[in-house]
This record gives sequence, structure tokens and C-alpha cells, in this order.
Amino acid sequence: MRHLMSPLDFSVEELDTLLDLAQDIEANPEKYAHACAGKKLATLFYEPSTRTRLSHEAAMLNLGGSIMGFSSADSSSAAKGESVSDTIRTISCYADICAMRHPKEGAPMVACQHSSIPVINAGDGGHQHPTQTLTDLLTIRNVKGRLGDMTIGLCGDLKFGRTVHSLINALVRYKGIRFILISPEELRLPEYIRHDVLDRGGVPYEEVVRLEDAMPNQDILYMSWDQKERFFNKEDYVRMKDFYILDRAKMKLAPEDMYVLHPLPRVNEIAVEVDSDPRAAYFRQVQYGVYVRMALILTLLDIHVH
Ligand code: CP
Repeated sequence: MRHLMSPLDFSVEELDTLLDLAQDIEANPEKYAHACAGKKLATLFYEPSTRTRLSHEAAMLNLGGSIMGFSSADSSSAAKGESVSDTIRTISCYADICAMRHPKEGAPMVACQHSSIPVINAGDGGHQHPTQTLTDLLTIRNVKGRLGDMTIGLCGDLKFGRTVHSLINALVRYKGIRFILISPEELRLPEYIRHDVLDRGGVPYEEVVRLEDAMPNQDILYMSWDQKERFFNKEDYVRMKDFYILDRAKMKLAPEDMYVLHPLPRVNEIAVEVDSDPRAAYFRQVQYGVYVRMALILTLLDIHVH
């Protein structure tokens, strides 16, 4: 039985196969409409979510399966003190696969150690968000036609942003990847990723504070929002929250084929006026999130459609 805790749980070849499957699902949705008939997905969300929870549910429904779950810890027996391990043992009696989001790093890993069904990490604290990474990889591959040989700008809260951490881990496995890390000093990428992943892997990167300085040199600009719930105090959050605002004037500094991604939700960091720019790919990214999660559910359940 396979789980998904980190994007690195799949080899590059397995990821290629998964992304190919997502593209086939996009092209031929009817072929997959009953692939999961009789199967149930449980969504166990101890933290708020719009896209991740509902895209997993949409994915299972599109595959002809059923869904169940809870959308906050308060509405589950976690509020009475139930452990993650007891919860997953229970859910294993009800469902065939589950997606779990939890504020504590490592909670989905604890779940998979006590689970008899595949567990998908739907975001654990400031650690990893692997299904967002699969979505990001599919989006980058679709808009740029490749996953290597490019410069990726990562902008915003690089300290707490789990989508950024997961994406870096996944992208360093492709040839010719360079990063521009755009953040204020206080929200720099953590040392353990800069040192252990980038320096040790010989991956070129530069760190800049001004977004304008990075705009002319990127193939992809990956915006992110400040992780309000992970800041230690409100004053720091208020001071940082509008540090970056991507607007039409900044987009004029960028190449014509530089695409903007954002895992969403957006707060203020991309002006609404950018949405109509053909390089704004963040709502296409939302749609790709459904296809890639359909491909993931089929892969983890070992269901093959011919
Ligand atoms: N991208 C993402 O994780 O969005 P949600 O928090 O809405 O799930």
C-alpha cells in the first residue's frame, strides 16, 4: 500500500507517469467517470481549506466514487481529545483512501503508520503540501512545456510556506533549475532547505528582497501568501502582509512568456488587475489540481483504466 507524504515519495519517472495520466484525464474525462465506483474517499481536515479539500472531493466524485469527512477539528472527536492514530484506525473501517490536513508537522505520517488505507498528506503545518506540488508541476509542465531548464522565482513567505518547501524539493530533481528567492529578511527560506537541499544539491539560487529586481529574469513567478496562522505574533504579520503586491506595472518588467502561479488563497499579494493578463495561470492551476488529484487517487488505489 502506498501513501503520499512528500513529493519525493514518487520518483521522477513515476511523477511523469502521474502527470501524463492527469493530462489524459483532462482530455478524456468520460473514460474515467466510473473508475472509482464503490470506492470512498474520506477528507480529514483539522485546518481550514477550500481548494485542497474540495478538489479531492471533486476528484473522487468525477471518478464515480463517494466522499465523507470533516472540515474542522471542532466537528470531529479530535475536539474531545481523540488521537490521530485512533481516528485513522476508525476511518480505515469506513473509507478506501483518505486525505488529511493537520496543523502539526508529521501528523499525516503518524496517520499512515496506523492506517490500513492510503493516506494523502493534504498539508501538515509549515512542512509539506505534496498534492499542491503535483498541481504546480502539472501547471508548469503545461504552460512551459517542460519541467527543467528554467528559473523559478519564489516570492513571499518562504519561511513558513509549505507549498514553497514542497515545490523546491520536487523541482531540484530536474536538470537546469535555478531559483530566485524573493522575501524580506524575516521570511527567508529556512536554513535547513537552503543548506541541505540547495547548497548540497549544487542548485543555483540568489536571494533578493525587491520583486522588481527579479521580474526580468524568471520563467515562472510563484507567488505565495503570508501564513498568518504560523506567525508568532500579530504585529509581525501586520508588518509583513503587504510587503509584496504584484500589479500590472511590475508585470510589464517580465518576459512575455513568464507565467504567474499562486497556490491560493490570494490575500493582497496579486492585484486583481493582473487576473486578465494571459500570463496569470493561477486559476488554471486550480483546475489542474482536480485532474492531478484524480490521477493520484487512481494511482494510490492501483486502479488502471484502459
Ligand atoms: N492551495 C491550498 O492549499 O488552498 P486551500 O488552503 O484553500 O486548500
